[in-house]
Amino acid sequence: MATRVMPADAAAAAEAARILGAGGLVAFPTETVYGLGADATNGRAVARLYEAKGRPAFNPLIAHVLDSQAAKKLGRFNAAAERLASAFWPGPLTLVLPRAIGCPVVELATAGLDSIAVRVPSHKVARDILKAFGKPVVAPSANCSGHVSPTTAAHVLADLGGRIDLIVDGGATPVGIESTIVTCLGAPVLLRPGGLPRAAIEQALERKLADAPAADGDDDAPMAPGMLAAHYAPRTRLRLNIRRVETGEALLAFGPAPAENARAAKTSLNLSARGDLIEAAANLFSHLRALDAAGAATIAVMPVPADGLGEAINDRLVRAAAGDR
Ligand code: TXA
Ligand code: MG
Repeated sequence: MATRVMPADAAAAAEAARILGAGGLVAFPTETVYGLGADATNGRAVARLYEAKGRPAFNPLIAHVLDSQAAKKLGRFNAAAERLASAFWPGPLTLVLPRAIGCPVVELATAGLDSIAVRVPSHKVARDILKAFGKPVVAPSANCSGHVSPTTAAHVLADLGGRIDLIVDGGATPVGIESTIVTCLGAPVLLRPGGLPRAAIEQALERKLADAPAADGDDDAPMAPGMLAAHYAPRTRLRLNIRRVETGEALLAFGPAPAENARAAKTSLNLSARGDLIEAAANLFSHLRALDAAGAATIAVMPVPADGLGEAINDRLVRAAAGDR
């Protein structure tokens, strides 16, 4: 199959909606990362999506809709969910909710769970496509399963070219790291740190968020089925929190101070030379991809502070380092 790439405009949104309606697969930017969209109500389309990504079918998908009103047709909101939706939607937050009665999303998309992950994206291109289509769109990150999430149309093409119908190119995604996932099945629990920092959520809830039990790579009955320990993996091995670079390593730097022996690196990129975590999140996946392509035996990663978006950045780095290859 030839994968077409269209610049994001009204014609692209209309074409995306037509393809989704015909059961096809369309990649598009959200504020976090590029998503690979399929009609959430079409089982064959969802099956094709799992196949294109090479994703284990037990890993459920996020349903994307335009607003809270549409979200309420999919999931049931408790008081915490209401609060979070009104504080942060549209934006980089996903809520896991009990499936609503009459929810039109096919069971395959939720992997047979009685809960559903719902998100209202803020990116204009994503919203234009949702508006044109008029139904919920399931969209995992538009990468091959287990690979680094895409933040540009070129990343999507490199992973999924020839396997999907259309890529709508809306430039680099502004946040650069996936949405924060909070379950609201009872008391709210943080399932995945992401583009919305924990502190903002805790402030809106006026309480601390519990953490999901740590993923251990055993995916039999996890809280967040997709949180396999080894996820987001580049092919090159990562060495985290390094102070000193070994000769010939690829260096992923952070901040203004150079690592020891930095000049011996084969190649290096800085997540944010001024030490800004927002900029670092936006650069994380594209820098990992670029260093992965450099052919070094290891990627040495300088320490990144854990506050704000640093929690999500460190989470992705630890997962990327855990891949056995
Ligand atoms: O920012 C994002 O969230 C991007 C953009 C495209 O929206 N999407 C994304 O989707 O990151 P994906 O499929 O790569 O990650 C979704 C995560 C997976 O870890 C999955 O297991 C979890 O959400 N998930 C989905 N439904 C769930 C459910 N009912 N209960 C618990 N976890 C769920
Ligand atoms: Mg993903």
